[in-house]
Amino acid sequence: MSESQIETEALDARPEGIARAAALLRAGSLVAFPTETVYGLGADARNGTAVAGIYATKGRPSFNPLIAHVADVAAARELVAWNAMAEAMAAAHWPGPLTLVLPLRSGHGVSPLVTAGLETLAVRVPAKACARALLDAVGGPVAAPSANPSGRISPTTAAHVRAGLGGKIAAILDDGPCAVGVESTILGLAGAAPVLLRPGGLAAEEIEAVLGCPVAERDAQDPLSAPGQLLSHYAPQASVRLNATSVLPGEVSLGFGPGVFDLNLSASGDLREAAANLFGHLHALDARRLPIAVAPVPEVGLGVAINDRLRRAAAPR
Ligand code: TXA
Ligand code: MG
Repeated sequence: MSESQIETEALDARPEGIARAAALLRAGSLVAFPTETVYGLGADARNGTAVAGIYATKGRPSFNPLIAHVADVAAARELVAWNAMAEAMAAAHWPGPLTLVLPLRSGHGVSPLVTAGLETLAVRVPAKACARALLDAVGGPVAAPSANPSGRISPTTAAHVRAGLGGKIAAILDDGPCAVGVESTILGLAGAAPVLLRPGGLAAEEIEAVLGCPVAERDAQDPLSAPGQLLSHYAPQASVRLNATSVLPGEVSLGFGPGVFDLNLSASGDLREAAANLFGHLHALDARRLPIAVAPVPEVGLGVAINDRLRRAAAPR
């Protein structure tokens, strides 16, 4: 399919750049913007045509719903039915790398394409100042998946976004690399008990500390419990071999902890640093078009989200 290319504006995080990005979003265009987790591909969540553009541009399966980004708790409460667990989580971790799934409220105004027809909506208040200024300027919810072609490695810099979506979207708002580096943790709060729908930038232990109860893992048999979690995802062009304790001839290596590697997620074994480096290092190694051997990463704290993304990158496709 041949697609006509458009000129993708490069905007920076100064007031004029943010105002321009907000004006484009309000006019129904697609704008990529930074959050503390990854860059998002934004569209006005109330504009069905604009939201349809996200699916078309990413090549995203239409059953995979989107997160509505809002400037503050008050804006979230206009969209979803709030409850005590949501209040506790928002008070402790918003703004931040946490998405809450709650029942839609009547009069929410969000396009059904955002929820892919579900009765619930995923909402998040991002922490990055540039994102919050943008949401303030838009004055309404912005639907945004990660700003990468569907199934590919998520973007943590404006250059990653341009490599994947340049020529297809109106603008990219650039405010440097993302500090957290993996997507938000998604917490389902629409039922009686909280459910971890996707591990991410906020460790499950921190959620349990706030709620004072264990958080159930999602039911992997139930596609509606986390509709977008296709196994093969975040996929580099090259093959990925996990838990590699040595490097085979012809492989490039991605390390964790001390040792000699082509790139290291964190030489000191710091999981925060590793999360921040994950997608950037995968992009960089992928450019070499050789199989990637990945050292073991401990399955604790942010390591759960890192290993989740690595398993998807390694999954058969
Ligand atoms: O950090 C992030 O969350 C980034 C930045 C841009 O905010 N966004 C992001 O969006 O990762 P995306 O579209 O790549 O992932 C959203 C996930 C999908 O797995 C989707 O299925 C799930 O959220 N989701 C959205 N709405 C849902 C709902 N109502 N119920 C269950 N899962 C939902
Ligand atoms: Mg994504």
